[in-house]
Amino acid sequence: MNTPLLVTGGTGTIGRRVIPLLRAAGRDVRIASRNPRADEPGIQHVRVDTVSGDGLAAALGGVDVVLHLAGGAKGDDIAARNLAQAARECGVQHLILISVVGADRMPIGYFRAKAAAEQAIADSGVPWSILRAAQLHEFVLPIIRGMAKLPLLPAPGGLRFEPVHADEVAARLADLALGDPAGRVADVAGPEILDARQLAQAYADINGGRIRRPLPVRIPGGVGRAYRAGENLAGAHADRGARTWQDFLHESHTDPATAAKVTG
Ligand SMILES: NC(=O)c1ccc[n+]([C@@H]2O[C@H](COP(=O)([O-])OP(=O)(O)OC[C@H]3O[C@@H](n4cnc5c(N)ncnc54)[C@H](OP(=O)(O)O)[C@@H]3O)[C@@H](O)[C@H]2O)c1
Repeated sequence: MNTPLLVTGGTGTIGRRVIPLLRAAGRDVRIASRNPRADEPGIQHVRVDTVSGDGLAAALGGVDVVLHLAGGAKGDDIAARNLAQAARECGVQHLILISVVGADRMPIGYFRAKAAAEQAIADSGVPWSILRAAQLHEFVLPIIRGMAKLPLLPAPGGLRFEPVHADEVAARLADLALGDPAGRVADVAGPEILDARQLAQAYADINGGRIRRPLPVRIPGGVGRAYRAGENLAGAHADRGARTWQDFLHESHTDPATAAKVTG
């Protein structure tokens, strides 16, 4: 095994797309998650809980680059602090974090935790890169599938996404992991900004069904204000992927492995 590159969350939606890219570039990888899989040539799995810190120090042994993709609804700030400290102590040379577009602007716990995670990495003393990504198609899908069944939708402009293809995020992360520390790089987002009605309409067009004239609802409070102001959107300087929401829906619809998930 050559010096392994540690990928936390390498079994997740994004992580499992990054691994083959790193392998194709000739890197051996060590994947850290709470549910390790069977090893394969060039791929070692280790049990780590980034939030409790269990297994972290051992996973970092002999590692020079860490791609931190593990994340969940809660605890991403704590996990990043644990990783930052352990990486510094283990002499890691490059620490890469995936964050979310709008991390420092959206008044939602998940975003706040991502902003704190960014700070922990930037303060770690380890050379770093941070990529903020927009919501993946896979993340937007269940939200829109649920909304497509309701007689209510956020008012036009009330809730917009710029969903991005997981392969395109993975490619960007692999480039970062194989390159030099770059600090905060341009956000990555999808090619189009679509509101809830447009997303739901495209979903209905491809999967059958129709959107009845939904009643527009206004998302209340600070969260509603932030969405209406587009604080979750990447803006003019983002790197934009090429694969659209419609492309993704078509792909998922024609791929028997994912069709059940899309229409279920
Ligand atoms: N999905 C999106 O739209 C989106 C957008 C922007 C940024 N991001 C960020 O990108 C990262 C990856 O997202 P994803 O969609 O690929 O997530 P995912 O499919 O839910 O995968 C999460 C991965 O992290 C691991 N994990 C979760 N908690 C862990 C813990 N405490 N310790 C160790 N491993 C843990 C999971 O494995 P186990 O469960 O086996 O531990 C899994 O491998 C996350 O940080 C997410 O916040 C996601």
